[in-house]
Amino acid sequence: MIDLLERIETYKSSTATAEPVEILEIFLKEFEGKIAFSTSFGAEDQVLTHIILSIDPKCRIFTLDTGRLPEETYRVWERTEARYGITVEPYFPQSGAVEQLVRDQGINGFYQSIENRKRCCRIRKIEPLKRALENMDVWITGLRREQSITRESLQIVEYDENFNLIKLNPLLEWRTGEVWEYIEKNDIPYNSLHDCGYPSIGCAPCTRAVSDKDDIRSGRWWWESPEHKECGLHIKSDRKI
Ligand code: ADX
Ligand code: SF4
Repeated sequence: MIDLLERIETYKSSTATAEPVEILEIFLKEFEGKIAFSTSFGAEDQVLTHIILSIDPKCRIFTLDTGRLPEETYRVWERTEARYGITVEPYFPQSGAVEQLVRDQGINGFYQSIENRKRCCRIRKIEPLKRALENMDVWITGLRREQSITRESLQIVEYDENFNLIKLNPLLEWRTGEVWEYIEKNDIPYNSLHDCGYPSIGCAPCTRAVSDKDDIRSGRWWWESPEHKECGLHIKSDRKI
């Protein structure tokens, strides 16, 4: 544990001004076989998939299929696998837990209260994430600082106490324009919902389109206030299963 924290401090200084590709080169080499990328197939994640595979075509890439994803996400999943010749590892929630959830709160019970919503996210996302990260030392994500007030204090290299691993956010400082420029320049497949007013895409019933003036994540759990708009994947206190 002390060793891990010391290593994080070392990496922090070497990544402070580095580009995502340089950061990923360091980590993919150093942690080969112990590093995994979680993709939701959003624009940032598509950029990362492209960079990661150009460095290490065998890097583990997994996705959490909650069972409530929009059809457009399945299409970009399929197109991504075809484009890069890879298999994205799917992680599904435990069927018994989902059955109990739906019995207890109804099929769309997440609209009724924050507690219900968090329970749904815990069962459909966080428990599968825990399994996906088993035995890993580094978890790569597509988080960006600009995305929301809940992400302002993130760091490129962080210690994640719940999973006892390094969380790596290589695109943290990128602006939306840089993400799209990179996608266009490299002709990277992306979720077609991004062309229909969805800057941020999660589960279908919990995501809606927004206007250009709205915050990037205002269409996620739009019935809740901004400080609650995290599903728990990226909030330490919500991860207890
Ligand atoms: S969320 O916590 O609100 O759902 P967001 O959609 O902004 O997160 O995505 C931030 C990062 O979390 C993504 O770049 C990705 O690394 C990870 N992530 C989010 N949803 C998933 C998912 N369904 N499967 C895998 N990774 C995900
Ligand atoms: Fe459930 Fe909505 Fe969370 Fe998806 S985003 S896991 S449907 S509450």
